Amino acid sequence: MCGIVGYIGNKSAAPILLEGLKRLEYRGYDSAGVAILENTNPPAQAGLLGIKKSGRIAALESAVNLANPTGNLGIAHTRWATHGAPTEKNAHPHFDCSGRIAVAHNGIIENYGEIRRALEASGHFFKSETDTEVLAHLIEKYYQENLAEAVRLALRHVRGTYGLAVIAADQPNLIVAARRGSPLILGIGDDEYFLASDASAVLSHTNQVIYLSDGELLRISRQGFSAITLDNKLVDKEIETLDLDAMSIEKGVFPHYMLKEIYEQPQVVKNCLAGRLVLGEGTAHIGGLNLTDAEIRMAERVVFVACGTASYAGMVGKHFFEEIAGIPCDVCLASEFRYNRLLISPQTIVFVISQSGETADTIAALREVKQKGIKVLGVINVVGSTMSRETDGGMFIYAGPEIGVASTKAFMGQITALSLIALKFGRLRHLSVSEGKRIGQGLFKLPSKIEEVLAGAERIRQIAEKYKDFKNFLYLGRKASFPIAMEGALKLKEISYIHAEGCAAGEMKHGPIALVDENFPSVFVAPRDDVYEKTISNMEEIRARKGKVLAIATAGDEEITRHADDVVYIPQTEPCLSSFLSVVPLQLFAYFIAASKGLDIDKPRNLAKSVTVE
Ligand code: G6P
Repeated sequence: MCGIVGYIGNKSAAPILLEGLKRLEYRGYDSAGVAILENTNPPAQAGLLGIKKSGRIAALESAVNLANPTGNLGIAHTRWATHGAPTEKNAHPHFDCSGRIAVAHNGIIENYGEIRRALEASGHFFKSETDTEVLAHLIEKYYQENLAEAVRLALRHVRGTYGLAVIAADQPNLIVAARRGSPLILGIGDDEYFLASDASAVLSHTNQVIYLSDGELLRISRQGFSAITLDNKLVDKEIETLDLDAMSIEKGVFPHYMLKEIYEQPQVVKNCLAGRLVLGEGTAHIGGLNLTDAEIRMAERVVFVACGTASYAGMVGKHFFEEIAGIPCDVCLASEFRYNRLLISPQTIVFVISQSGETADTIAALREVKQKGIKVLGVINVVGSTMSRETDGGMFIYAGPEIGVASTKAFMGQITALSLIALKFGRLRHLSVSEGKRIGQGLFKLPSKIEEVLAGAERIRQIAEKYKDFKNFLYLGRKASFPIAMEGALKLKEISYIHAEGCAAGEMKHGPIALVDENFPSVFVAPRDDVYEKTISNMEEIRARKGKVLAIATAGDEEITRHADDVVYIPQTEPCLSSFLSVVPLQLFAYFIAASKGLDIDKPRNLAKSVTVE
């Protein structure tokens, strides 16, 4: 949520900043800006050139190209508005009264109101409605010669979260960065440094990075960097090597990242299973889980905490844990969980699930649990993310960078990881070796079965064409197909802006059915499982009210054609694993509807990929 880029070196900063912003655009894309320190002779007269635009980065790029800045120090920002509309004047970077100090900020300054009133009373003049602008003026208040010290002193007055990049007109060899709650990473080149909100913006320049931790402040010059805490103590930062290749963040032959990521799913499952699934023993070896066999055997309850799509992955995981491992499991939305009473015993195993590892509510929930002295494990995609650093163990899903805002392959990776953990738990508890082997075989065969579903994409596109003009949809399913219905509905609303409601099929008659008529179709997730016949009855209830039915069903199920207007088949699999296959047609269905409408699929309106504010 909001992306920050900074560059200091000997090259022209503008193209590097713009390229970085494009890489981070998925974090927020309603306005953008740069501040570049222009080279002048004598340097003492140097000034900051600020260019901002509302709308996409393309608009900013044209304006920057027109101005043709040559400076080799600058910061930039792409915004997801919190305080103040996405206008040019609210776009970052923000400046102090004199225009000498520029600030790009990700996060929320919670006490900005009182700070602003005090600063205005002492003569500071504000130009925007943002919370961020108070930082520029606070730093101005403390700035004499030492910019890092002014930032440090200013931050002592601030409540809330920040990833922060600051430059000043009279500091031609310095960027100051600070972090509390919003990620920042520093890419290290030869006499040049790249500051960014995440690795995708530095990857084309270097794979040597340091991650800033909360409460740290970084001084970056062309000759090197040093880190201190906000209490002014020196910190030693370890240089790490990014394990990502630049191709993984390219779209390749696909028109959208989302489609590319949908097609990567067979490989995502393979990567996640590799070296972990032990077919011969019907179990999983999970290196970093950090749970003893005794802890797993003693566990009384498992709790998943997550937001959005990751919470639906948790709901699928609940079925794995209850059916495969035989342990009661709850799924909690992080935004609720963090403010509830935590009724967690030491025999409860808590997992956070997150693609980015940076979602503010999930991080806060994680910290709440840890603060009570209870271990928190993670199912996380982004290595090096805040959650991956703060959890006590867990599993990386290794899905590679997910760039499309609507999550697809991360969901697939999350349910793969959760199935493996459930299998391991099950085998240490009551699951027999033969049951374990059967599920293991089922998991092993999933990648080729997902390929089969993908091979049917053209038929799904044709069905999408038929349904694309409806204004409302119900998505229905039972057991593990219920979260798949929720996820299918979420995909449709996220990228096509069509109203879609996910509902447990059995619950539909307690309200949602009142909406159904010939203009309100239902999508049923109806694999052949032990609730199949109940789901068919629900289909008939919809059809009796003239509602159209699109069903996702198991290959070979002829019966269902008598109950549905359209059917998409998925291959047969273990009943407890059908979610892996049934979610794929729903992702494609949403994708094709949005594509037929010409919408901006990878960057849907109002959304951001990484939600780093509450
Ligand atoms: C945002 C994204 C969703 C994602 C959710 C949780 O809303 O648009 O795709 O599911 O955040 O994100 P996380 O990174 O924690 O999985």
